[in-house]
Amino acid sequence: MQYAPNVTVVDHPLVQHKLSVLRDVRTGPKEFRELVSELAMLMAYEATREFQLAESTVMTPICETTTKVLAGKKVAIVPILRAGLGMVDGILSLIPAAKIGHIGLYRDPETLQPVEYYCKLPEDIGERDIMIVDPMLATGGSAAAAIEFLRARGAKSVRLLSIIAAPEGIAAVTKADPDVRVYVCAVDSHLNDHGYIVPGLGDAGDRLFGTL
Ligand code: PRP
Ligand code: URA
Repeated sequence: MQYAPNVTVVDHPLVQHKLSVLRDVRTGPKEFRELVSELAMLMAYEATREFQLAESTVMTPICETTTKVLAGKKVAIVPILRAGLGMVDGILSLIPAAKIGHIGLYRDPETLQPVEYYCKLPEDIGERDIMIVDPMLATGGSAAAAIEFLRARGAKSVRLLSIIAAPEGIAAVTKADPDVRVYVCAVDSHLNDHGYIVPGLGDAGDRLFGTL
């Protein structure tokens, strides 16, 4: 489902079912991690829909035939630490040759502004199809900062995969960078006074790593 230009809501029934279990306050860290990973894989399936193909030939046990193989750029997965880490393995199960970059950001609890504490990216990041991953797109400050880092290092093709977004986050990111393509499983109602997505799922990092 197209929510706005460059924003796709992945509303497949399997995705929506898994998202319901993910939101549930009774879901513990083990199941939460598994669901985040599975959702990331399903989102990546949708986010790679426009990857380029080239013709190839293959010999089947019966005869030679013309087929298609991936022909576009190589992929980089860039989790925003910490919670983005939970989405990496699911995407790697589809794209095992992807390189991984890491951007460490946390939200200052008072100002809600992103604070950078780590950045390590593949050298050829500018030549890759980049998937930034972070389960939560709240004010959009963290994602916008990550996109800005990557653009400053030459990134041309950037996708953002976030499981749950607030309308405020989508607006902020698409305003800051109109070329980024955004994939989410749900756009929730609003942000509360502490910058949490409502209804959301609470603090994604704490639920993933059991630090509640
Ligand atoms: C969460 C989340 C995003 C960010 C979203 O991380 O994983 O990175 O908040 O909020 P924003 O859109 O308003 O920037 P947090 O800062 O809690 O750090 P953590 O992943 O280390 O828990
Ligand atoms: N970060 C989270 O982990 N959850 C939210 O709802 C907002 C930001």
